[in-house]
This record gives sequence, C-alpha cells and structure tokens, in this order.
Amino acid sequence: MKLSLALTLSSLSSAMSASWTNVYPNAASFLFESTLDEDANTFHAVGGQNGVGAVLMSSFDSGQTFNTTTVGVTGMALAVASDSPNVLVAGVANTVYSHDDGSTFAPSKKSKGNVVVSQNAVSDSGNFYLVGALLQDANGGVSRSTDNGETFEAFHVDELKTAARYGAFKGDTWYLTAGQWPQTQDSASYENRFSKRLHRSGKFDLSSSASDGDDDATPTDWMAQIVKTTDGGKTWTTVFEDEGNFYLNGIDCFDENTCVAVGESDADSPSPGSRIFTTVDGGATWNLSLLVSDPQESLMNVVFRSSDEIWAVGGNVSNRKFTGRVWSSTNWKDDQPEWEDVGGVDNAWFVDVSPSKSGEDAWALAMTLQSTSSIFYYG
Ligand SMILES: *[C@@H]1O[C@H](CO)[C@@H](O)[C@H](O)[C@H]1NC(C)=O
Ligand SMILES: *[C@@H]1O[C@H](CO)[C@@H](O)[C@H](O)[C@H]1NC(C)=O
Ligand SMILES: *[C@@H]1O[C@H](CO)[C@@H](O)[C@H](O)[C@H]1NC(C)=O
Repeated sequence: MKLSLALTLSSLSSAMSASWTNVYPNAASFLFESTLDEDANTFHAVGGQNGVGAVLMSSFDSGQTFNTTTVGVTGMALAVASDSPNVLVAGVANTVYSHDDGSTFAPSKKSKGNVVVSQNAVSDSGNFYLVGALLQDANGGVSRSTDNGETFEAFHVDELKTAARYGAFKGDTWYLTAGQWPQTQDSASYENRFSKRLHRSGKFDLSSSASDGDDDATPTDWMAQIVKTTDGGKTWTTVFEDEGNFYLNGIDCFDENTCVAVGESDADSPSPGSRIFTTVDGGATWNLSLLVSDPQESLMNVVFRSSDEIWAVGGNVSNRKFTGRVWSSTNWKDDQPEWEDVGGVDNAWFVDVSPSKSGEDAWALAMTLQSTSSIFYYG
C-alpha cells in the first residue's frame, strides 16, 4: 500500500515537473511557424533575421543544438512544413523545398497563381499545402504539391470573403480559416496577415521588408470565416461565419469531422478576447468551447496531439507585458473539449506550438518583449 502510494506520488511529480525551457533565446528577429516530424526527432522553425533575411532553424536532438540556415526565399520565411526528409519553406513571393532535412534547398516551380504571403504550410498524407493569398488574388486560397514541394497547383477559393489564413487537411476534405481585423487592407503586406497583436504591442516592425501593393485600400471590420471542401478543392462551402467581432487564426482537425479553430480580438471589438470553436459534425455546427473575454488575450494556433488531447497557444499581450499561455484539453464532455490553462511562461507570447504525437514533449515559438523570437521546449 505504502509502495503504491509512493509510486503514484513520484509519477505525479515527474509529470508535473515538465515545464517550458527557453532552449534558444533570441534565436531570430521573428519566428513564425514550426513543424515537428511524426518521429518527434526533427524540428524546424522559420522566420527572419534582421540584416540576414529568411532563416530556417533545425534541431535533431531535442533542442540541444540548432542548425541555422539562410533559405532563398523573398523577405522572411513565413511558413514551414516537413515530412522527413522533405521540408517546405514559404516566403512572401516564392517557395523552396528540401529533400535532405533542410541541408540543401531548391526553388519550387513557379506557376502563376502560386500561393504567396502564405502563413501556414501543412503536410498531410504525402502532400504539402500552402494557405494564403495568391499572386494578384488578395483572398487567395490554397496550393497543393503532390511531389514533395517541387511543383504546386493553386486553388482559388471564390467563397472566401477575406484572406485565407490557416488550413487543416484530411484527404480530400480541407478546411481554411479566413479573417481580418479593422485596418486598411493591404493584400501584399504580411504585416497585415500575421496578427493584430503585433501592431498593438508596438514592439515589432515587419514593414521594412514587407512589399506594399494595394492602392485601393479600404477600411475593414472584424471578420471570421471557415470554408470547406470535400472534393479536394473543386467546390467550397462556408461552414462558419462571424462579422464584426473577431478573426480566426489556426485550425486543426483530428479527422474529417472533428476540428478546432482559434480566434481573437482586442479592445476595438464589441466582443474582445480569445476563443476556441469546436465541431464534431464536419462543420455543420461549431460550438464555442472556450471564451476568455479579455482584450489582451491572444490565441494563435491549436493542434491535436491525439484524438482526445489538444493544445492551443497564445498569450496575454500588451505593450508592457507578455505572458505566454497554453490551453490543454484531455477530456471531452458533451462533444466539447474541456480546456485547462496549463501554465505558460513570462515575457513571451506563444505564436505556434508543435506537440510531439509520440511522446510527452512539445516545442513552441514565442515573441518576446525584447522584439526577438525564442524557441521553447517542453519536456
Ligand atoms: C547540421 O549541422 C552539422 C554541423 O554543421 C552538420 O554536420 C549537419 O550535416 C547539419 N545537418 C543538417 C541536416 O543540415
Ligand atoms: C455543442 O454542444 C452541445 C452541448 O452544449 C452538444 O450537445 C452538441 O453536440 C455540440 N455540438 C457540436 C457540433 O459539437
Ligand atoms: C492579462 O494581463 C493583465 C495584466 O497585464 C491582467 O490584468 C489580466 O487579468 C490578464 N488576463 C487574464 C485573462 O489573465
């Protein structure tokens, strides 16, 4: 009896001793997206380093060492996906691929309509996807590569009312989030794509390397939309829409019918705060499973670790203080995940998370008050 109690206590305390460690402080000026392979050994993050350009940071040893490579994409590297040994990195106007875990890169074949200003790259079942605006197509859609990033086919999505932001892909069923916040719309500026909090914090200036294109800028309102296709991009329907309150960031699906999406808005909204929407019926209905009605709260991305474990990351963000926040759900009740604030970090705002699907560890990218980005490891 005593022994089993001792064992329970020690396994409890080891579970609770896992915490976030900043394994690469001030790794780059900006880090936007990360990817972790199924084997959990190969981690990549992309972003930009002032004075250097687009960078890829890779670790093959749980964050003990990092290989930093400059990648030949325009401006900053905005999105990365991997399916080891294949890696895809997207910049503001072009895309490169690697077949050797990021050692060497070649340009993806340019075809008119390639997705650019993409902020989300996804790998699913041997295909790579890029979500974002298309050349001369502000709202854009998605591009798919079936040859490990060498060539892309673009799918313009008429159904979109604002720019595509993030996507989730399960076979021929794809979901895209879209949205915008009050601003003068500039289709070419990735400053206007990433997050409204970047502006509000006043700490980051991406404009120096953002291309500027839209002369017909018009003021806009908050808008959130999710579009879905079940035939591999041929036809699309709107399965979620909200006007005037928030915009959507990341989305992830465990299967074709079970998805979560995160959204946010600040004090300019009549309904400020971070939120998580969930569907278990393929998008026919979306339930609000979390709402934190605080204008400083941000949620950037959400990922299924398994069918019943989900992680969502963001932060409490102001121009004086950042607190990185992680929401976790390990329990579903009445078809809704129950969310728990599992603790975060000070002085950093999580913008992406890559939990391991085979182990307990996880990676996160964070922006800090010092106007840099750092890489965190949980384990
Ligand atoms: C990482 O860096 C080490 C040392 O420079 C090098 O030997 C190795 O090939 C690199 N790995 C990749 C995949 O780039
Ligand atoms: C929404 O939540 C209700 C309970 O609050 C539940 O009965 C229903 O199944 C949920 N719907 C979806 C699509 O998750
Ligand atoms: C966000 O941070 C502010 C302090 O900057 C604090 O007053 C507020 O309670 C925090 N919000 C939440 C939901 O924790």
